[in-house]
Amino acid sequence: MPTKRARTTRRPLRGVVEVPGDKSISHRALILAALASGLSRIEGLNLGADVRSTAAALRGFGVSLTVDEDNGVAEVEGSSEAGLSEPVDVIDCGNSGSTLRMGLGLAAAVPGATVMTGDASLRRRPMLRVVSPLRQMGASIDGRVHADRAPLVVRGAELAGIDIELPIASAQVKTAILLAGLKASGTTEVVEPARSRDHTERMLRAAGVDVTVRDTSVSLSGGSKVSAFELTVPGDPSSALYLLGAALLIEDSRLTVEGVGLNPTRIAAVKVLKRMGANIELAETGVEMGEPVGTIVASTSELKSTEVSGAEVPALIDDIPTLAVIATQAQGTTVFRDAAELRVKESDRISTLVDGLRVLGADVEERPDGLVVRGPSTLVGGDVDPAGDHRLALAFAVAGLITDERVRVSGWSCVDVSFPEFLDVLGRARGSK
Ligand code: S3P
Repeated sequence: MPTKRARTTRRPLRGVVEVPGDKSISHRALILAALASGLSRIEGLNLGADVRSTAAALRGFGVSLTVDEDNGVAEVEGSSEAGLSEPVDVIDCGNSGSTLRMGLGLAAAVPGATVMTGDASLRRRPMLRVVSPLRQMGASIDGRVHADRAPLVVRGAELAGIDIELPIASAQVKTAILLAGLKASGTTEVVEPARSRDHTERMLRAAGVDVTVRDTSVSLSGGSKVSAFELTVPGDPSSALYLLGAALLIEDSRLTVEGVGLNPTRIAAVKVLKRMGANIELAETGVEMGEPVGTIVASTSELKSTEVSGAEVPALIDDIPTLAVIATQAQGTTVFRDAAELRVKESDRISTLVDGLRVLGADVEERPDGLVVRGPSTLVGGDVDPAGDHRLALAFAVAGLITDERVRVSGWSCVDVSFPEFLDVLGRARGSK
């Protein structure tokens, strides 16, 4: 596997940068555009492997779409009138849980059989959480391990809406059910134990669908029409956090990320950092399809420990690896709990993170539902293995940025899943004084 040298000296991060388009919004933009009537135009699409998997899956369902690789502009011809068609081949979702789970929600209403699979990591991840509700709505689904693992085969059907309480907060599951609900008879209501990211709700509304949100419940009526739209995808706040987090920890830094998504269900990490004493500020500058967009500025800070738990966890679930790296530099004991979901992401993020941080000299303890980080500790160089998980590779790169020694991240190319441009953006942040 190729390795990458993450840093040699601690150079401050300064100036103004942008990060690639939000991955979650990019998936949804392509999917909603595919369900709409008319032509949609999406600018600033995330060009990572996961979003490409969604584009390929939609093509598999017969959707006509183009993505300009040079400028991230996608044009999607909505399939509303004809509907999606039975794919002629297996849909390979690669590493992308969003593509598979949301794709199952689409396939549930497509006449015929849809076969969906993914890479070794995705084939290990639990799918019954989506399969069960879709079965209750009328779809027939089978697959490995009693239909809990891909490959999965879906026989689409006339669906009926459901009222369902999810045992875990998951935006992917919620979205799959809502997408199926759009094609079902009657009303579909999803209640979560805590609020997960709400992009689907906001974007559906902006595309003309009457979506009702009450606390942690969301409902819509089957047969609602999705209107074609134009959207500029905001920058991904989880991608921004790698750079902003490094800026907090490196002396003489002051980094501004512009055009980044500020959806409150995505930026709980910023609140946590403020609690830790970080100099980090947000300013909203606009709204895109119901999604607030703006600027985040972070400068070098003295940090103290905190506790991350409960209802705030779903709104920072992807950011815990980065926050854990940051916590190694905070004074005191930082505890992450109620985050067992991390064990069923692209890797077991708790054990992968703990193993890697230990190699780098951090004082960390693994817990069944999270981890404990005792800081501050001086990180050292070393070879770390992100287990093919993009978020871990990027979090370890942040660790590399704050050591004076060499950190080698094996299988670095996995960052292509969400943030292929990381080293370029980092270079810009380090170059501008
Ligand atoms: C996502 C939801 C989260 C997150 C993933 C993207 C989404 O997964 O971890 O990176 O776009 O809906 P869960 O819904 O499984 O928590």
